[in-house]
Formats: sequence, structure tokens, C-alpha cells
Amino acid sequence: MLDKLEMNSLVNAETGKVSRRIFVDQALYEQELEQVFARSWLYVAHESQIPNPVDFVSAYMGEDPVLVIRDSRGKINAFLNTCRHRGMRVCRADEGNAAAFTCTYHGWTYGNDGKLVGVPGYKEYYYEELDMEQWGLVPVTQVDTYKGLIFGTFDAETPPLREFLGDMAYYLDRFLDKREGGTEIIGGTHKWVVQANWKLAAENFIGDSYHFPVTHASTIRVRSLDQSYRGRGFSIRAGFGHGVLADWPVEPHMLFQGSETAQRYMIENLPEMAERLGADRMKLRYGAGGLFPNMAFLDIRPQIMVFHPRGPQKTEVWAWCFVDKAASPEVKEALRLNMLRGAGPGGITEQDDMENWNMCTASSRGFVASHHDFNYALALGREHDHEQLPGSVAPRVSEHNQRGFYGSWAKLMAGKSWSQVR
Ligand code: FES
Ligand SMILES: [Fe+2]
Repeated sequence: MLDKLEMNSLVNAETGKVSRRIFVDQALYEQELEQVFARSWLYVAHESQIPNPVDFVSAYMGEDPVLVIRDSRGKINAFLNTCRHRGMRVCRADEGNAAAFTCTYHGWTYGNDGKLVGVPGYKEYYYEELDMEQWGLVPVTQVDTYKGLIFGTFDAETPPLREFLGDMAYYLDRFLDKREGGTEIIGGTHKWVVQANWKLAAENFIGDSYHFPVTHASTIRVRSLDQSYRGRGFSIRAGFGHGVLADWPVEPHMLFQGSETAQRYMIENLPEMAERLGADRMKLRYGAGGLFPNMAFLDIRPQIMVFHPRGPQKTEVWAWCFVDKAASPEVKEALRLNMLRGAGPGGITEQDDMENWNMCTASSRGFVASHHDFNYALALGREHDHEQLPGSVAPRVSEHNQRGFYGSWAKLMAGKSWSQVR
């Protein structure tokens, strides 16, 4: 385990120097699973995926498979999706509705509250000596929701979710709470694997405005995207490692680019949105944003993504299209198509990004290369407070948010407990 001093030599959030080793090293990766993933609030599912009693959906927290279940009384619980007998996956379906889960190896059965309720041969083979109370599914220590998003953490000491989100809640509301009824997920879960460290994907959404005109030059040309607002935008650090890239103030007709249907929808419903969130907040247009450690969002596609770690040099990406529940079927379909065109292995911008993350990872694992730091010094020291926008604000093209992200990462990696981290 690296201590605080050693961690400071890997990540210097003040100068923007970050060691490449944190993107390729196996020992650091294992420490990360324990100290970052098992101690942070992680996004696991959207409430609209489990609307009814005993609905469930499969998810991951780090490398741990979990089941998110709405129990018979409507409460949302989450458990490790692994049988207590020999570790078999208790539920092999992505989602569904089930009163109980029977393991396909030897047949232990768990209720939707996680309790072990059935053991084949309980009398004949176990002689009634197995204490079934002790062998229920392992629960996720804390589960909480924020406006439809379900999060879990394995650490009892992790600060409450609302506190963990901090100023990010203000920006999340701009997606999640624009209209009565909130949001819902449509079109299933998109999954794919990239040969890259998960942090490269996460930091890209949290803070990288710099790459857009270069990496996505072809997208800008093909879609005739108007870049004129970028000069007025901000990188905003909001809460523990979270960040958002926003243009502000943006005229209503510029709130949504890429789909005329979606653009019309925003303009028509702006009065309701402004009444709910305030006129200032509805002048925000996001490039991208992300929640520490591994969730990202884009409102122009619109999508939520999670970067599941699968080793230091491999990441499994899960993505969902989310829309306002109150939108018409026509608008929802336009948004879904907009997401498909941009996101995923075939998405016009995603392809560009993945190529970068894969090669940044591959070219950093050599012995010599791994000992030369990355540079995160863009627009260092240009941050300031803003009268209307909460958080710490810097120019749109800066690495302010990435410095915040890696600063938080290093704190968690060095701190033995949340009280030390805080
Ligand atoms: S592994 Fe599940 S019953 Fe044996
Ligand atoms: Fe990108």
C-alpha cells in the first residue's frame, strides 16, 4: 500500500503532474479497487429500470457484480450477486422480475431481501445444522437515490450521498429535474470494452474541453456544430472530484444541437424548466460532465455512462439513453437516435475518444515511458468563484477539473479512512 508521501509523488494536483504509473500498474489498480471503488458512492442503476415491486437489475461496483432489487414493499436494496456457498452468480439475467433467486450450481435460494430461504438437502445432507440466518447475500452497505439515480457504497463511513455530490447536485438537476416526473432510461444498456485505463475515460468527460476541436474535427464538420459559445464556457469543479464542462449563458435556440426535434422540445418547454430550476440554470449547456469516480453524462446525446474497471488496462463501458419522462414518444425517439449516432463503438465521437484512450494506455506501459509524468497544467491557477454558478470555475479549456479529479483520487488512495480523507 502506498502512503500519503508516496501518493504525493505520483499525483501533484497543485502543479498538474501525474505519474503514468497510476494508469498501468497492477498493484496500484488493486489498491484502487479497495480504496476508491469500495469506498465511493457508485452509480448502479436508474429507478426507471426497476419500477415495480420485485423488479431487479444487474450492475457492477468496481469488479464486484451486484443485484439492485426493489423489494415487495418498494424499498430499493442491493446485494453482491454471488452465492455464499461457492460463489456462483446468483442471478444471470441482466434484468427482470423475481420473488427469489435460485443459484444454478447447488440450488441455494435467496429471497428478494437477500435472506437465504432455501437449501436443497437441508435435512438430509446438512442435518439442519446450517445457520441460514448467517448465509444471506452480502448487502451493499449503503444504498441511496438522487432524483432517480441509484447509488451504492460498500463503506459505512462514506459521507451521505447528498454531501458526496456537493455542488454537483445543482448541475445534475439541470438534467434530471427539468420537468415534472424526472427522467427515465429507454432502449436498454449498451456495453462494450476498451483497452484503456478507466480514469482516462472518466477524466475526459469530467474536464477535457481541450481535445474536442482536434479529436472530433470530423464530427464538427459533419454535424456543422456551432463552436462560437465555447469562449464563454467554464470548467466547473463541483464537489469531491466531480466536474462539468458548461457553456453559459446560452440562448434558448442553442440549448440543444444535433436534433431539430430535441431543439424544438427544449424551446417549447423552457418556461416550465426555468420555473423549476431558475432562468440562470437553464442558460447552461453542457459539453460533458462526470461524477467521481466513474460515472459520466452528456446532455446533448443524452446519456449516462459508467466506466467499470477490468484491470489497469481494460475498461467495460456501460451506457444508457435517458430522457425526460414527460417528453413525447417522438422526442424520446429523436434523443435515442441522437445518442446512438454519437455513443458506443459505432458512435461518431465515441470512436475517436476510444482510439485515444487505448493508445494513451498502451504507450504508457513500457518501463521508460511509465516513468515520465503526464501534464495537467493547462490554465493552472485561473480558477475563481462565480456569482451565479456554484463550485470552482475556470476557463472552459483548462485542466482544472482533472486536477480536482486526481486530487480526490490521491486523497482516497492515501487516506486509511474517510475521516482522514476529509
Ligand atoms: S454455489 Fe450456489 S448453491 Fe453452491
Ligand atoms: Fe471526446
